[in-house]
Amino acid sequence: MNIVILAAGMGKRMQSALPKVLHPLAGKPLLSHVIDTARQLSPTRLCVIYGHGGEQVPQLLQAHDLSFAKQEPQLGTGHAVMQAVPQLDDHTPTLILYGDVPLTTATSLQRLLDSAGQDKLGILTVNLGNPTGYGRIVREKGAITRIVEQKDAQPAELEINEINTGIMVAPTAALKQWLARLSNNNAQGEYYLTDIVASAVAAGVAVVSAQPDHEWETHGVNSKVQLAELERIHQRNLAHALLEQGVTLADPARIDIRGTLTCGRDVSIDVGCVFEGDVSLADGVRIDANCVIHNTSIGARSHIRPYSHFENAVVGAECIIGPYARLRPGTVLAEDVHIGNFVEVKNSEIAAHSKANHLTYVGDSTVGSRVNIGAGTITCNYDGVNKSRTIIEDDVFVGSATQLIAPIRVGKGATLGAGTTLTKDAPADKLTVSRAKQITVDNWQRPVKIKK
Ligand code: UD1
Ligand code: MG
Repeated sequence: MNIVILAAGMGKRMQSALPKVLHPLAGKPLLSHVIDTARQLSPTRLCVIYGHGGEQVPQLLQAHDLSFAKQEPQLGTGHAVMQAVPQLDDHTPTLILYGDVPLTTATSLQRLLDSAGQDKLGILTVNLGNPTGYGRIVREKGAITRIVEQKDAQPAELEINEINTGIMVAPTAALKQWLARLSNNNAQGEYYLTDIVASAVAAGVAVVSAQPDHEWETHGVNSKVQLAELERIHQRNLAHALLEQGVTLADPARIDIRGTLTCGRDVSIDVGCVFEGDVSLADGVRIDANCVIHNTSIGARSHIRPYSHFENAVVGAECIIGPYARLRPGTVLAEDVHIGNFVEVKNSEIAAHSKANHLTYVGDSTVGSRVNIGAGTITCNYDGVNKSRTIIEDDVFVGSATQLIAPIRVGKGATLGAGTTLTKDAPADKLTVSRAKQITVDNWQRPVKIKK
């Protein structure tokens, strides 16, 4: 099958410099949703018609299985499909999709393809309570005879509730002939793709219809209001799929998934969480309110407390992280690691049973097992030019308010006294402390206020 995706429209009502089809829904361009659905149908040719906004569309979305054809100027949906004609294989049908209709499912499209077979013209239609603005499906004795656009319709035709979603499949050789004969003699002065229906009927080609499972599958985006509405529908669908699968959501209306969220059994997620990219939560993971988690995997039974922010991190099993924890790219935590409030970890591995519970920066570090990092500890990884590593071996105890000036190593079992500024490696199993000696001044008196 050939698939053509129409994506050349202006999108004026988006009020944006970005081409309409590149606006994100669930963190992904509208057009990418359509391309991904198209791919599920295994097309042999996949062609995107772009126009407005020029080269940003092919630049951003280029892929080995995609071809692009530019439509300039935009003279209508029929004219748009004409731009793809040289790329279409005559021996297999052509499915036409819209780049601004992101939520059509492969199941509904497959139903349309099945009803059209190799040699019928198939139209995806729906019945709408308010069909205003859409092309109407005109039938005689039940059979589709043509599509009439809103602006060209007679008053009686405006009463028809069955509308053209715009999604069609046609036998390709015939489609090419019908496109060649389109005229723009209509209310909008455009080459209407919809006019191929009357041509098919005249040529004795059967015209069939199929309906999608849900009306929202056919909704397009023309404005930010419609984009926001579709985003909510999509998020509700994703949330319901998680609930069906056994995930506990405190409120399915207050979770946002912008990517792929994979959950094990008995996962629970509180309100206000955002998941981006590829996130996986193993069995029994608990995510408290208002966490933002990007490209991260979290091991079984770990508990993420409120307001934590993770990016490109790996969290082991049985960890307790947050509240207010930040895991930056390259963080790898083994099992039973505790990271507490206002602790930032970057490009560091922390081995099992280690803890950094308060106000700490661990960057470019390798931390062993059973290490305790006291409050206010800073690994000084950056000298203004280069980044260097800190190595803290197993069973180390780092006293509070310690600075470790990297590159540096703290040997196994070492203890660093509170307030230490460590500039040389600390030997294993010993107490190392750098601190000005404490003195007490006898006979010292507090100054008193001088009266004027
Ligand atoms: C079209 C259909 C109408 C249908 C409706 C469904 C025609 C003539 N009418 O109307 O029957 O009910 O969609 O939403 O087909 N596009 C191009 N190049 C163009 C014009 C449009 O690529 O020159 C693309 C747009 O980017 C969009 C799609 O085609 O993705 C539909 O265009 P739009 O202008 O919204 O068509 P409608 O007038 O709404
Ligand atoms: Mg439209």
